[in-house]
Amino acid sequence: MPEHDPVIKPQGIRKGLTNYGDTGFALFLRKAFIKGAGYTDDALNRTIVGIANTGSGYNPCHGNAPQLIEAVKRGVMMAGGLPIDFPTISIAESFSQPTSMYLRNLMSMDTEEMIRAQPMDAVVLIGGCDKTVPAQLMGAASANVPMVQLVTGAMLTGGHRGERVGACTDCRRFWGQYRGDQIDEQEITEVNDKLVASVGTCSVMGTASTMACIGEALGIVMPGGASPPAVTSDRIRIAELSGRQAVIMARSGLTPDKILTEKAFENALRVLLAIGGSTNGIIHLTAIAGRMGFDIDLEAFDRMSRETPVLVDLKPSGQHYMEDLHRAGGLQTVLRELRPQLHLDALTVTGRTLGEELDAVPSFKQDVVRSFANPIYPAGGIAFLKGNLAPDGAIIKQSAADPVLMEHEGRAVVFENSEDMAARIDDPELDVNADDILVLKNIGPIGAPGMPEAGYLPIPKKLARAGVKDMVRISDGRMSGTAAGTIVLHVTPEAALGGPLALVRNGDRIRLSVAERSIELKVSAEELEQRKAHWVRPVPQGAERGYRKLFFEQVTQADKGCDFEFLRPPQMIARVPARD
Ligand code: FES
Repeated sequence: MPEHDPVIKPQGIRKGLTNYGDTGFALFLRKAFIKGAGYTDDALNRTIVGIANTGSGYNPCHGNAPQLIEAVKRGVMMAGGLPIDFPTISIAESFSQPTSMYLRNLMSMDTEEMIRAQPMDAVVLIGGCDKTVPAQLMGAASANVPMVQLVTGAMLTGGHRGERVGACTDCRRFWGQYRGDQIDEQEITEVNDKLVASVGTCSVMGTASTMACIGEALGIVMPGGASPPAVTSDRIRIAELSGRQAVIMARSGLTPDKILTEKAFENALRVLLAIGGSTNGIIHLTAIAGRMGFDIDLEAFDRMSRETPVLVDLKPSGQHYMEDLHRAGGLQTVLRELRPQLHLDALTVTGRTLGEELDAVPSFKQDVVRSFANPIYPAGGIAFLKGNLAPDGAIIKQSAADPVLMEHEGRAVVFENSEDMAARIDDPELDVNADDILVLKNIGPIGAPGMPEAGYLPIPKKLARAGVKDMVRISDGRMSGTAAGTIVLHVTPEAALGGPLALVRNGDRIRLSVAERSIELKVSAEELEQRKAHWVRPVPQGAERGYRKLFFEQVTQADKGCDFEFLRPPQMIARVPARD
């Protein structure tokens, strides 16, 4: 290929030359430097596949990144390409202060800009822990370079005193038992060694597993690529195939915009409902779709929810773990069951359609994915609520809630913020009983900041000791996909912006009706107006400079995916799901 032919778009090592004002010199210099690492001209003339390496000592969920990179490289070279791995930010859920969500958009910017800045014809993105896959998909969608998402895969389950355990639904269950004095110090220490039995992502249908399934439903993860556990040979094979496929996509020009279409997002929303996926999934899907110019229509999504049962029997909605779903055929078993409700003509990274991929999958008897006739839960996992407490909406994971509490009116017990809750929730003097509704304010996108997973308010200790397992809890925050309970989340607009949640007082009556999809504060509009007149907006802490300043200025509300306003396209092109 002529090195400076203006008609031919530069490929491989010639792409995106550093700007020295002399392109010939820029290429000469680039090649001179990379030859310092021992590359030949033959290698440098090949299709380049970048590999986003998010391995980190702080991220055990990505502990298999070295093996995955080796396998991706093998796949790229088998197809005649040149693999080059590069680091980006890595975010591990429990190692991110104030919360991983605060860093998701930063990681998406890092991913997008490194894809743009460095010469690569395609990219394989290695992600896994909750916010990493959404960040990578957001960034890569904006960069629009051919890409394959490769997830690290779920951890194995462990055993505790004869019982199978896995992060992190069981982490919460055991901690709840410890708080309720049902297990002692020795046992909580003992189980801490058993909950995470290997590297990899959480072993239930938490956010990581949800995003892996969503990636496959979108067609951007290799077919069959969502479910193999991190330490299995199947996971390594998927890595090799991902590398090989990336070369093919680079050569055929299969860019994300041809895969991440309206139909693909509808398929992904359907899958989110049918797997009993994490509530975080809807925020992340909204953000990814937003990058492609699609607004998620939450009311249309709710209508979809009424006709899409939960089919996957995984914790926290059911009883199994990700490794069981893998043995049951993985997401493809779910997709086959959902087939009549899917857009089968949506394209995947293989260049074939979803329908063509499903035709190639054998069916067999298994007991993890249910049939439509015998679902785990008769409707979709997530319901969208509206009312005077949440004018722009809120959600509840109905498949993991107490059916009795889903129709409930009670007295509000209000916590102004996380610190207030931590200080008082276990106070023996706290005026609270099991029928009350716990309200936590100021944990929204701006309020905390970063919308932490603090929406899973603990049951006050005195009630936990009395055997109370669930209460209605309401906040503008999120909760972990591994958590369960009658928990209303993502109340929008958030309290820190003066949404009605900011005006709730102790003793107010609140009514939740999931059947009616409503969340109502039983206080008159006049009274709320008076309260609003006296409301003082909290001053964001540490927002004078840096990323935090950018975050406070740019972060959108949950209904826009909490993306930064300036990262979304100037104009949206459609609403998804399409209304009939
Ligand atoms: Fe990383 Fe759960 S903490 S996936």
